[in-house]
Amino acid sequence: MRKIPNNGNLKMTKVAYPLGLFVCLFIYVAYIKWHWASATQAFFSITEAATGARRVPQTRSPPGTAARGHEVFYGIMFDAGSTGTRVHIFQFSRHPGETPTLTHETFKALKPGLSAYADDVEKSTPGIQELLDVAKQDIPFDFWKDTPLVLKATAGLRLLPGEKAQKLLQKVKEVFKASPFLVGDDCVSIMNGTDEGVSAWITINFLTGSLKTPGRNSVGMLDLGGGSTQITFLPRVEGTLQTSPPGYLASLQMFNRTYKLYSYSYLGLGLMSARLAILGGIEGKPAKNGKELVSPCLSPGYRGEWEHAEITYRISGQKAVNLHELCADRVSEVLRNKVHRTEEVKNVDFYAFSYYYDLAAAVGLIDAEKGGSLVVGDFEIAAKYVCRTAETRPQSNPFVCMDLTYISLLLQEFGFPGNKVLKLTRKINNVETSWALGAIFHYIDSLNRQKSPAS
Ligand SMILES: *[C@@H]1O[C@H](CO)[C@@H](O)[C@H](O)[C@H]1NC(C)=O
Ligand SMILES: *[C@@H]1O[C@H](CO)[C@@H](O)[C@H](O)[C@H]1NC(C)=O
Repeated sequence: MRKIPNNGNLKMTKVAYPLGLFVCLFIYVAYIKWHWASATQAFFSITEAATGARRVPQTRSPPGTAARGHEVFYGIMFDAGSTGTRVHIFQFSRHPGETPTLTHETFKALKPGLSAYADDVEKSTPGIQELLDVAKQDIPFDFWKDTPLVLKATAGLRLLPGEKAQKLLQKVKEVFKASPFLVGDDCVSIMNGTDEGVSAWITINFLTGSLKTPGRNSVGMLDLGGGSTQITFLPRVEGTLQTSPPGYLASLQMFNRTYKLYSYSYLGLGLMSARLAILGGIEGKPAKNGKELVSPCLSPGYRGEWEHAEITYRISGQKAVNLHELCADRVSEVLRNKVHRTEEVKNVDFYAFSYYYDLAAAVGLIDAEKGGSLVVGDFEIAAKYVCRTAETRPQSNPFVCMDLTYISLLLQEFGFPGNKVLKLTRKINNVETSWALGAIFHYIDSLNRQKSPAS
């Protein structure tokens, strides 16, 4: 198997060793002190990871404790989103020749997002430094230089004019280069929707264990954000790969294997963008002369305002007899010829996230805390029920009829039959499912691949 970055430190000399212990003791004391101090801070921290994973004691032995049968390594991923920047500090453990397990995660988020500093990039520095300090406190000193530090930006920076985004990223890169961590030339980048989908796919398959056990069936990933929606899975039928348009396939190298994934991100089919399209509005443009947007997907008596992408729209329902049918017709128009359908989604187990989860929880299809399973047809049943109720009674959330109808038809367009079971969850094995874990994991794997090109 490939070597992990910490192996070099194994060759500590006899002289260095007591010194190392002393340093470790110092760090340990500092760590404990910090831990006290941080107890009151707004940290989400410490998730015990996958079953069977052992928590590595904080009394540090030298890095790469191969003598005790497992090696420890770290990765730092900055998630630069539209509303905030968040650092994830992952600790992994690996037995020689095996797939690593996640043993610990710390994260901290800051607002606002990087894009808020587009016109004054210097101002982005203190926030980045603050998050780097969290990493320094979390990771033992002697692991620093071998711990990769990466920032990946999503929607917020994707929307900035290219030049402004590049300036921001350049600034971050400078700050990173001045840090004691392992910083490559590719340490900051903007992810596209496919990268995001593939990284999330790695996360859930790592957490469900299917990357560990070759041959074990992998699971698919459905995500519904505000602006875009993603579908990613590993096809097992040759025909699926052959009949998919080229932009729908992504090749992924992990653990000495190449995965040919089906992955696509539909920009404009996220729930908020879809609402606007269903209402007949145009992205980025106020309605002409402040005209009201009227929709059969809203309660007939409803009249209100809706803000989307910093524009406020006046919206209202319309008199209707069969709200669900009219709404479904409208949603079908919006979705027509937009989605590529694959038969194989019927045979793959799927996890669904974000608004799929939120909507299902909002109408009681799953437990709001624990998540759960449902069949695709449940969304349609719920849509029919909510829309019928909305015909006579205004709803506290005027969009539920529209949102459920949209989700149910979107899933049908992907090719999911009504009896298809979906798992909705926020955590797998008690670990928050975000793309960040998959992305750092893939990054570390590619570093190792570069180190040992022979494999
Ligand atoms: C990678 O896979 C190839 C063949 O699939 C195998 O021969 C090789 O030993 C593997 N390398 C490692 C490092 O596992
Ligand atoms: C997304 O970015 C990756 C590189 O990070 C690239 O290989 C891929 O072609 C891009 N996909 C799309 C759909 O733009």
